[in-house]
Amino acid sequence: MVVISNILTVTTDYFMMARSPIESETTITELMIPAFANFGGKIHGGHLLSMMDKVAYACATKHSGLYCVTVSVDNVDFLQPVEVGDLVSMFGRINYVGRSSMVVGIKVVAENVKDRHVKHTNTSYFTMVAKNEDGKVEEVPELLLETKNEVRRFIEAIVRKYMKQNFSREMKDVKKEFNIDHELKKLKNERCIIQLK
Ligand SMILES: CC(C)(COP(=O)(O)OP(=O)(O)OC[C@H]1O[C@@H](n2cnc3c(N)ncnc32)[C@H](O)[C@@H]1OP(=O)(O)O)[C@@H](O)C(=O)NCCC(=O)NCCS
Repeated sequence: MVVISNILTVTTDYFMMARSPIESETTITELMIPAFANFGGKIHGGHLLSMMDKVAYACATKHSGLYCVTVSVDNVDFLQPVEVGDLVSMFGRINYVGRSSMVVGIKVVAENVKDRHVKHTNTSYFTMVAKNEDGKVEEVPELLLETKNEVRRFIEAIVRKYMKQNFSREMKDVKKEFNIDHELKKLKNERCIIQLK
């Protein structure tokens, strides 16, 4: 019995040991085929989002050893289109760890395999939360920061978290204080026609 309980303690400790971002780094590379294209002949943003979600899941699950769900996605701005025939690579690594949440930073690059030109299309941040077998949120191991860049990414994630909380609060206030007569004046220079019935 004693031996079993020791093994259990060691196993639990191992799973909660701090891990560095390198330990869970994940890369997915895929060739963009015509089936992934939109009507304009470029790659669907939705296809790229789905790939990013997979990288985020793999990264968060490697770090936590638990099933993880996507809670939030920040900064998905596709700065340049991805073409059919491009080789797309997504590099994911854990930037930040809370109690049960992890922020996975994902850098997306597309390489033209004919002329070898590489373009950085976007960097996005997926917040993933770990769950246990009962579907309840579960604590994850701390992040071991070993380089200045890892510290910078961790701090930037904290800043984004606070900015997002402030944004949510301000949006709530905007909704609460909404006064149509006052707000209509703000639409003077907007491209809309108001025909209230
Ligand atoms: C995310 C979810 C687990 C939060 O549940 P909850 O009961 O509110 O739990 P908590 O308040 O303890 O939040 C858990 C963590 O999520 C984080 N979180 C919650 N909402 C968030 C948001 N909008 N953005 C970023 N993080 C968020 C919290 O900060 C907390 O992090 P921490 O433990 O590191 O401090 C729950 O809403 C859920 O299961 N959502 C569905 C997720 C899913 O199925 N996604 C797949 C796509 S459909």
